Amino acid sequence: MFKKKEKLSDKIDFSRLPHHIAFIMDGNGRWAKKRGRLRTFGHKIGAESMEVVVRHARDLGIKVVSFFAFSTENWNRPKDEVDEIFNIARKLLVNKKESFLKSNMRVIVIGDRSRLPLDLQKEIVECENLTKNNDGLVVNVALNYGGRAEIIGAINKIIKDGVKEVNEEIFKSYLQTSNIPDPDLVIRTSGEQRLSNFMMYQCAYSELYFPKIHWPDFREKQLDEAIIEFQKRDRRFGAIKK
Ligand code: IPE
Ligand code: IPE
Ligand code: MG
Repeated sequence: MFKKKEKLSDKIDFSRLPHHIAFIMDGNGRWAKKRGRLRTFGHKIGAESMEVVVRHARDLGIKVVSFFAFSTENWNRPKDEVDEIFNIARKLLVNKKESFLKSNMRVIVIGDRSRLPLDLQKEIVECENLTKNNDGLVVNVALNYGGRAEIIGAINKIIKDGVKEVNEEIFKSYLQTSNIPDPDLVIRTSGEQRLSNFMMYQCAYSELYFPKIHWPDFREKQLDEAIIEFQKRDRRFGAIKK
């Protein structure tokens, strides 16, 4: 008779899920160009991937997801493209904040928001405040974020506070990610194999995964595949296998 069709997520070991998955959402521009469309169309569909991935991560039981949405280096792009990325971010926050609230998700934004458009800054604060008491999935969005800038910022705050000596615990408390654990898995789409200044300190021991697919094509199936790949890795943390 017919066998029940096996789903990819059936292959996931739910007792060993990565706690925190970080996404470097790359390849929007190339994805659009391949289809004869403007790069901004790629960003629009990429934002849909982000929504799909958030929902699926929640359904799977992942605790924290981080998304690299705009880097400190992305200011080097044409103004039109930069403006459109901010428009998409603004729209997502406005349209989805109620659903984040109802789904028990907590939204946090890292990066230097002071350089972002004022209305976007306002929406960020509103969404963070609205969802601050939720204890389900944490959705961490990096906007105008750079790992080096974050580290330098932390050092300056430490100096200002007159702290004479730090350890890893104290240093972590000065980072913008102080309340979330380090990523277990970093996924960068589009085949590029670099961090591009994304959470370098926090990713010291993360497993890295570089699917060839562009971000707008990264959906449920691709997240399942990434988790299955993660579960094949042997995380030794410097120790040896018993
Ligand atoms: C990632 O896609 C999105 C951002 C950096 C904002 P890209 O825009 O970098 O797309 P490619 O890499 O040029 O294809
Ligand atoms: C990294 O992608 C930044 C984001 C995904 C927001 P880029 O496309 O900007 O990185 P590079 O320039 O290829 O390193
Ligand atoms: Mg890119």
